[in-house]
Amino acid sequence: MAHTKKNIAAALLAGLFAVTTAYAGDSPEDIKQRIGKGDPAAGKDKSAVCQGCHGEDGNSASGTFPRLAGQYANYLQKQIRDFQNELRNDPTMSGMAATVTEKQDLLDITAYFASQKQMKGTGGKGNEKGKKIYLEGTTEGAYGCVNCHGENGKGKAPHNAMFPVIGGQHKEYLVKQLTDFNKEDRKNDPSGMMGDIAKKLTPAEIEDVADYLSTL
Ligand code: HEC
Ligand code: HEC
Repeated sequence: MAHTKKNIAAALLAGLFAVTTAYAGDSPEDIKQRIGKGDPAAGKDKSAVCQGCHGEDGNSASGTFPRLAGQYANYLQKQIRDFQNELRNDPTMSGMAATVTEKQDLLDITAYFASQKQMKGTGGKGNEKGKKIYLEGTTEGAYGCVNCHGENGKGKAPHNAMFPVIGGQHKEYLVKQLTDFNKEDRKNDPSGMMGDIAKKLTPAEIEDVADYLSTL
């Protein structure tokens, strides 16, 4: 009897572990891992200007501005550095990134947004065609997004900051980024891996997969 109980406990633990590794989530340990080396409390004050567009808790009101809530600090830092080095360009954000000149400020500001609960979409049933693309890819050879962006687009465990959280992001922003990658207006992805995929998507497929992601 005791033996069986032990086995059940082991199976339950294994199951739990499988779930937590597939989904980054908002446990204290998850948050600790994704904030990196910065100080979120200091970052809250330092990011006052950023909050004007990206929202006080990183959940922006408008789809022009990406949600930063619960995004990996390291991914956010890379984007700021890419804007500063003109590897990524945007008439609004490039100027904002140029104001973050101190390394400690960059660490703290990104830690603040990373420390928030992960961004959450609009809910609802979700776009069926978009879901299929997300999980299985397309017949033209776009690799399924889930392989890099993780279950529900919430990131790839264990806390791999190379692959951003995209589940729960604004649809409008997602469409813009995928279109930018498709047209090579955005080329700051490591080894061109995201561009290769976006180039295989039609405008209709971009619309469907962005629609799906914005509900997660
Ligand atoms: C006036 C509005 C505005 C302000 C203020 C602003 N941003 Fe942005 N930010 C944008 C826009 C617009 C984009 C999307 C650019 C694009 O389409 O590629 C963006 C994109 C970003 C991204 C990329 C997110 C991703 O998922 O790739 C980061 C990181 C970011 N901003 C951080 C900041 C930080 C840090 C500050 C404060 C120093 C800040 N922003 C202030 C408008 C703003
Ligand atoms: C082979 C791995 C890989 C696959 C598969 C993949 N991506 Fe990505 N994606 C990346 C990487 C890496 C980045 C970060 C690029 C950077 O550092 O700027 C990224 C970035 C993005 C971004 C920009 C996020 C932001 O906040 O600006 C979007 C949107 C995106 N991917 C959507 C998708 C969709 C939709 C699919 C499936 C059709 C997909 N990705 C498949 C690797 C991948």
